[in-house]
Amino acid sequence: MNHNPTPFWVVIPAAGIGSRMAADRPKQYLQLGQRTILEHTLNCFLGRAGVRGIAVSLASDDPWWPGLACASDPRISRAAGGAERADSVLAGLERLAALGAADDDWVLVHDAARPNLADEDLQRLLDELGDDPVGGLLAVPAKDTLKRVGADGRVEQTVDRRPIWLAYTPQMFRLGMLRAALLGAAQAGAEVTDEASAVEWLGHRPRVVEGRADNIKITRPDDLEWLALRWDSR
Ligand code: CTP
Ligand code: MG
Repeated sequence: MNHNPTPFWVVIPAAGIGSRMAADRPKQYLQLGQRTILEHTLNCFLGRAGVRGIAVSLASDDPWWPGLACASDPRISRAAGGAERADSVLAGLERLAALGAADDDWVLVHDAARPNLADEDLQRLLDELGDDPVGGLLAVPAKDTLKRVGADGRVEQTVDRRPIWLAYTPQMFRLGMLRAALLGAAQAGAEVTDEASAVEWLGHRPRVVEGRADNIKITRPDDLEWLALRWDSR
């Protein structure tokens, strides 16, 4: 039992439209078992000691959020989603700062579309990075053989998979560093697809913490089918 949990804040970017899922609504509002994906994702954090507050970044015209029970939870605040994921995250950080988060405070950014984050993974991330000067992310080592493929659809090279990891979330950084990284990368026009790549752009080297491969990001219909099959038998 951890009697002195690392305090942290959470940003959940949930302003995407889910184009690859091609459903009748953004994928975070699709049902998984008894609840929506977004509710399961929020529940990964709501039960934990150490959570100071959660910002969820939503599209301005989102008609689904007000219908969720957690929309009125005092621990959750709404932030304005942006055109890119990084814009949504930045808005979430500003929301947390307005709530009293300090530059030195830890922020965990976690995709709305990853409802299957295991408590043990979250705990390991906090334990391993709590004293880290930079921060880092949950990641999974590549397990398949990797091929570099040319435009003609033929293999050019087999790539050494040993140093290759897949970047998952949560990604854990201090609020001030992450805000500076995202703002700087945006001003420079650098493409950042996750928080770690913004922090790398600043010149730091985020640490990787191995996580479970089933903390998948629901992206396509078969991802949801796969998770739904496991969900009720967990
Ligand atoms: N996201 C966001 N703001 C954006 C784009 C994405 O908050 N402008 C969020 C999504 O809601 C999701 C997470 O970032 O929780 C990861 O993005 P992704 O899986 O790419 O979701 P979508 O962008 O919705 O899906 P797609 O790329 O298929 O359209
Ligand atoms: Mg996307």
